[in-house]
Amino acid sequence: MSRILVGSAEDFEENMPETIEHNNKLILIVMNNGQFYAVDGLCTHQEVELADGKILEFGECPQIVCPAHLGRFNLCTGKPTQKPPKKPLQTYNVIVENGNVYVEVEDA
Ligand code: FES
Repeated sequence: MSRILVGSAEDFEENMPETIEHNNKLILIVMNNGQFYAVDGLCTHQEVELADGKILEFGECPQIVCPAHLGRFNLCTGKPTQKPPKKPLQTYNVIVENGNVYVEVEDA
């Protein structure tokens, strides 16, 4: 596993997704209620970028709405919660250390 530095935690805005690219993959990072979540940045339905997706509050796990066809994913598990997507998004561990936000990724 490797850690990828995303940025400073204080630069994140609540429910405003940030996207990074790693090994030709987009990873989306979201802060909601002070918690960080990271999932694949492309919808599993038709690979539309989720960066403009709206974040919905759903108890302990926020959800992201795909801007294309309004599919939804749970940001804790990556599982789709509303069709059309059927496949889950990959999720990533997020580590906040010394004010910096890191995403853990598999080594290539
Ligand atoms: S591309 Fe995301 S719901 Fe269709």
